Amino acid sequence: MVESKRKVAFVTGASSGIGYAASKELAKRGYKVYAGARRVDAMKPLEELGIIPISLDVTSTESIVAARELIESENDHLDILFNNAGIPCAAPAIEVQDELFLRCFEVNLYGPIRVTREFSKLVIKAKGILAYTTSTAGIFPIPFGSIYSSSKAGLSAYLSTLAFEVKPFGVKVLDFVSGAIKTEIMNSEKIDLAPDSYYRVDGVDLIKHSRGDFENNKFMDVNVYAVKAVNDIESALNSGGFFSSANYFKSYRGTMASISWFITSYLPRSVLESMLIKGFKLKDGFNAIKKKYGA
Ligand SMILES: NC(=O)c1ccc[n+]([C@@H]2O[C@H](COP(=O)([O-])OP(=O)(O)OC[C@H]3O[C@@H](n4cnc5c(N)ncnc54)[C@H](OP(=O)(O)O)[C@@H]3O)[C@@H](O)[C@H]2O)c1
Repeated sequence: MVESKRKVAFVTGASSGIGYAASKELAKRGYKVYAGARRVDAMKPLEELGIIPISLDVTSTESIVAARELIESENDHLDILFNNAGIPCAAPAIEVQDELFLRCFEVNLYGPIRVTREFSKLVIKAKGILAYTTSTAGIFPIPFGSIYSSSKAGLSAYLSTLAFEVKPFGVKVLDFVSGAIKTEIMNSEKIDLAPDSYYRVDGVDLIKHSRGDFENNKFMDVNVYAVKAVNDIESALNSGGFFSSANYFKSYRGTMASISWFITSYLPRSVLESMLIKGFKLKDGFNAIKKKYGA
């Protein structure tokens, strides 16, 4: 039977991390939740909360259409589309191989664009919200993160225009410019620095070296993030009326999210660079490179 009353949400990238936690939070608040990812088995425990796991690969239009057809066969609307699936893509900007940047853009940028296109009719019917997990990396340079940063900055740019275009339909757009959140994303990354990479200094892989302490950093707990994110989604969804006609929202959530915006907007580049050198433990490595290449 096709449901027309109950609030419905679809979360992509729901087999772990933010998507998993956000699916649970939405279900707790009474939404009928569809959780999409490639690892369907990892989403099985969500069924206990009434969440419906579905197979989804955001790099495949066929897979996205199949997910839409399934949701459409059971609902005539979609209140929340949370485009959250994403991958990390670390590599030096001057050495990155085609395979890595194509994959990164396929998942992080073209994926949500495809999902938005395929699901927008259902969201328009609900006058619902399109939410996305972008990143402070889109505004703040993370060493060896140029590809990830550009995929997320590209997505943020897409959202700004998307919001303008969907405004006449009464649809809202929410960009989660996210800071650091404790999830598996860093561990899932396979970093393959070439044997002759410029950034392999005296046998030290500078990418691994710069990211070594992530495990111990004080990143925001993913369940705390999910509660804040769903609060933001609901406030944006319920906003409007006489006092506000806004349909485009940015929410800075996660460790360092708001401060990243402040640093890049107001501090001189030299201060930012010192912070990066210190924060990512690149002083010795960069000094060795300077010495070797005479900068
Ligand atoms: N954690 C952070 O500090 C942080 C900061 C800023 C932004 N973000 C963004 O937040 C989002 C969620 O990341 P997370 O931290 O929760 O990491 P995560 O635990 O690794 O989750 C990533 C999710 O994306 C899914 N995914 C990857 N490739 C996919 C594909 N081709 N099709 C469908 N789903 C796919 C994964 O599921 P399958 O592998 O099962 O498909 C997984 O469920 C990402 O977009 C990430 O860039 C995270």
